[in-house]
Amino acid sequence: MADRYLHLTGTAPGRFLTRRLGLPQPAPLRRWTLETPHLDGPLLHLTAGASAVTGVAEALRTSGLTVTERADRPAAIVLDATGVATAAGLGGVHAALHPVVRSLAPGGRIVVLGTMPSPDDHHQAAAQQALEGFVRSLGKEIGRGSTVQLVRIPVARIPGGASAHAAGSTLRFLLSPRSAYVSGQVIELTSAAPDSGSDPAPITDPAAPLTGRTALVTGAARGIGAAVASVLARDGARVIALDVPGAREELERTADRLGATALPLDITAPDAADRIAAAAPDGLGILVHNAGITRDRRLANMPADRWASVIEVNLDSVLRTTDELLKAGTITRGGRIVATASIAGIAGNTGQTNYAASKAGIIGLVRSLGPRAAADHGVTVNAVAPGFIETKMTAAVPLFIREAGRRMNSLSQGGLPVDVAEAVAWFAQPDSTAVNGQVLRVCGQSLLGA
Ligand SMILES: NC(=O)c1ccc[n+]([C@@H]2O[C@H](COP(=O)([O-])OP(=O)(O)OC[C@H]3O[C@@H](n4cnc5c(N)ncnc54)[C@H](O)[C@@H]3O)[C@@H](O)[C@H]2O)c1
Repeated sequence: MADRYLHLTGTAPGRFLTRRLGLPQPAPLRRWTLETPHLDGPLLHLTAGASAVTGVAEALRTSGLTVTERADRPAAIVLDATGVATAAGLGGVHAALHPVVRSLAPGGRIVVLGTMPSPDDHHQAAAQQALEGFVRSLGKEIGRGSTVQLVRIPVARIPGGASAHAAGSTLRFLLSPRSAYVSGQVIELTSAAPDSGSDPAPITDPAAPLTGRTALVTGAARGIGAAVASVLARDGARVIALDVPGAREELERTADRLGATALPLDITAPDAADRIAAAAPDGLGILVHNAGITRDRRLANMPADRWASVIEVNLDSVLRTTDELLKAGTITRGGRIVATASIAGIAGNTGQTNYAASKAGIIGLVRSLGPRAAADHGVTVNAVAPGFIETKMTAAVPLFIREAGRRMNSLSQGGLPVDVAEAVAWFAQPDSTAVNGQVLRVCGQSLLGA
């Protein structure tokens, strides 16, 4: 279902009319293409007070942008606020960004680097938590398709200031067109190194960082799952695309297009994990739980079977197959598990008690299992929480609710399946080891559940 309003505001008369009426002005988002893999302009590197980490400049250089301390029209601004530890220190945030925020190019990126609020120092905790309110507010006011995020780097526990190095894949993602529909987010990096001793092979080909890895994507026949399969294949992974036997034709078409293997299988089947393991005899480096269904009704009208089927597909089968594949060692060390939550699981939604419960359950799973899977198996566990994404699922939503879903976010438009897929690919990067137990909302900073 095409977004005609976005098209209308892209024309001069449409822009004039909608501005006069005070209606939202969505800016067209520039996404990754082979020809334009980077943002168009330099990266301005600023500091608020003294930095508490080393290696930030080196990590920024991996973004592919020219890093500078002065620029007339930066495509990105990174503010290192890791050293801000007092209320007075917050003045440095204003002093750094106030003079330059207006010069940010359209579709630009602002990333604030902070650290974890301390449980032992309430002044530091107040100052670092303040950055979250700052980032979320700036995301709402910046406009023109630009985005703003906070990345928390664990300063104290990493010896020798190696922490900025751990932020490399995250900065590469956030400072690129791949994160076009991600805004107002807080990402906390861990200091644990789950792969130590058996690190995955270093990235030999930056254009295909997932080379040598096998990825299984559930619900891959269409929609977000097909986009995930496509982006992982683009990044070099060998892809196994799984979907229900009833979607076999569509699945095979998708798989053929990507050079992937089709695995027609209902993920709720009792032997699903065994069948997945059999399809990946050399193990899985990446497991993406994307299959999902909705069976909406208000609770008072919801029969038990609608409740049960949503919990079964969206949550129970994810728990079961994850447990079995980890236990069997099918997910190899250095592996990545990515599940799919939803902003409905954060904010709740009328008629979706079953769906929201299943998606909130995914968030619980990721936060609990992430640290343990890292310690026990050398595997990270993260989730994407999509907002309004243009797919068959949302095309079925009634017109007015659909329009509200599209506009009620900082970017005033719906996201595309590829936006979710790019976030999954970031989690899957070999050097995303410090990204664990995270739930990234890909929602254009939706006002729902914000
Ligand atoms: N579209 C959105 O706006 C949105 C928002 C938030 C979360 N999500 C989540 O993203 C995921 C993908 O959503 P989508 O919009 O692409 O949906 P979709 O309905 O277009 O695709 C889902 C796919 O999962 C498959 N599937 C369903 N049950 C299965 C089972 N038992 N075994 C194997 N495959 C199964 C379907 O056949 C389908 O191909 C879902 O988990 C959904 O809940 C979507």
